[in-house]
Parts: sequence; structure tokens; C-alpha cells
Amino acid sequence: MEGYEPVMSFDAANAEVYDDLAQRGDEAATVAFLAELAAGGPALELAIGTGRIALPLAATGVRVDGIDFSAPMVAKLRAKPGGGAIDVTMGDFADVAVDGTYALIYIVFNSFFNLLSQDDQIRCFENVASHLGDGGSFVMEGGCTLAFIDRMRGGQYVEAEGIAIDTVRFDLLRLDPSTQMLYENHVHVARDGVTFNPVVQRYAWPSELDLMAKLAGLRLQERWGGWNRQAFTANSDNVVSVYRRC
Ligand SMILES: C[S@@+](CC[C@H](N)C(=O)[O-])C[C@H]1O[C@@H](n2cnc3c(N)ncnc32)[C@H](O)[C@@H]1O
Repeated sequence: MEGYEPVMSFDAANAEVYDDLAQRGDEAATVAFLAELAAGGPALELAIGTGRIALPLAATGVRVDGIDFSAPMVAKLRAKPGGGAIDVTMGDFADVAVDGTYALIYIVFNSFFNLLSQDDQIRCFENVASHLGDGGSFVMEGGCTLAFIDRMRGGQYVEAEGIAIDTVRFDLLRLDPSTQMLYENHVHVARDGVTFNPVVQRYAWPSELDLMAKLAGLRLQERWGGWNRQAFTANSDNVVSVYRRC
């Protein structure tokens, strides 16, 4: 997608509608899973966004810091109750420096794949490893699954995300398996015009994530098919991985 920059996906217009579109229904399970692993220690969320997970996790008593590169997304976080108390470092989560170490570092909602090269993804694992305290955990939600691939026909799909009398929202997605790049655009058509939310990601299978983790000195400890610790199987449509230092 020529001219694409990752920050375009999280500009002011997209930040404005993000919370209405991103509620998935598994937020409580996500927070319970993460709070248990933090075990009272501080946590760092990579790609904290509008605080969908960070704010309810902080409400359980865990100190949560964050990293993000989108000022409009972080402004939305700041505007929410408790949002002012979260320490957010603005920068690229692949390599931005943060002070101190954490009992838990986590990234959810496939946000890791917003890093568009394998090198950037490896640098992210290395950055995480250097900020994990003794016994600390790195939790990642994301990774390619057969369920995701099965949604494609000829490596692409179009899905109706919303249909009303005078507005429709649809999602177009195409994979390039030769480069592991995923090109997507959420298109909203209304009487007053059309808006686009383009997203490009570099996807990876869980096995590649494990190898990147190993290069950074981390090792897979647990893998689940969802936040309720469902078994991870060939039919799983989600991947939750927990890494610790080797
Ligand atoms: C899909 S949103 C997820 C936000 C939040 N974690 C959630 O679950 O709702 C992805 C977030 O990642 C941020 N982001 C994407 N790539 C980034 C990068 N390389 N460095 C820092 N933030 C990034 C975006 O600004 C956005 O806030």
C-alpha cells in the first residue's frame, strides 16, 4: 500500500471512533489473566492506545505504564477516569527506552504485527527482554491461525461489518504470503462521504514468534487459545503466548 505509514491507522479520525469499534467482549477475561501474572508488580503495555485494557487493569491495583506513538489515541486515554495517572512513553515500542523493569510486559489485539519487518519485531522482543524483571512475563495476544487463513478465499476477504439504511462499513483484507504482509482497509460509506481506515501488518505464525523470542533470550512458557486459558489447538482463532527469560 504505497505511501502507508503505520501512524495513519491511529490518526485523530480513527482515534475518535476507536472505542466504539474495538470493544470485543473479552476485556474482563484479559484483565483477569494479566492481573494474575503481574501478581502485584508493575506492568507495561506496548501499544496502550486508548486504555481499553490498561485502565481496567490499573483499577485492579496493578501499576500500569504504557508505550504508544499516537498522540490522538493517548489523548483519548488521558480523557478517561484514571487516564491521567498512567505514565505513557511516546515512541516506537520496538525500541523506545523506558525506565526500570516490569513484572509483566504485554501487547494485545495483534498490535505486535504493526511492526512491519522481521527485524523490527526481533528488536521489540529484545527491548522487552531488557525490561523484564526477574521471573517477569511477556504476554502477547496475536499470531496467525488456521481459523484466520480459512476466512480467505484466494488469500483475501471482504466482510460486511455494519449494514444500515444509509450507511455501510466493510472490511477488505488481502494477504501476501510471500512477504507475510497483510493489507487491510475498513471502509465506511455514508451519505456524506466515504472514510478509510487502512492497516498494514506483517503477520507471523506462533512458531516464528517463539524463534524471535529465543533470539532475545526468552522462552515460551504457556500458549492458550484465548484469555480464558482455552487449549490452543488447530481450530483456535486466537493465540495468547506467555514468554519468560530462559
Ligand atoms: C489496535 S490499537 C490497540 C490499542 C489497545 N492496546 C487496545 O487493545 O485497544 C494499536 C495501538 O498500537 C499503537 N502502535 C502501533 N504501532 C506502534 C509502534 N510501532 N509503536 C508504538 N505504538 C504503536 C497505535 O497507536 C495504537 O494505539
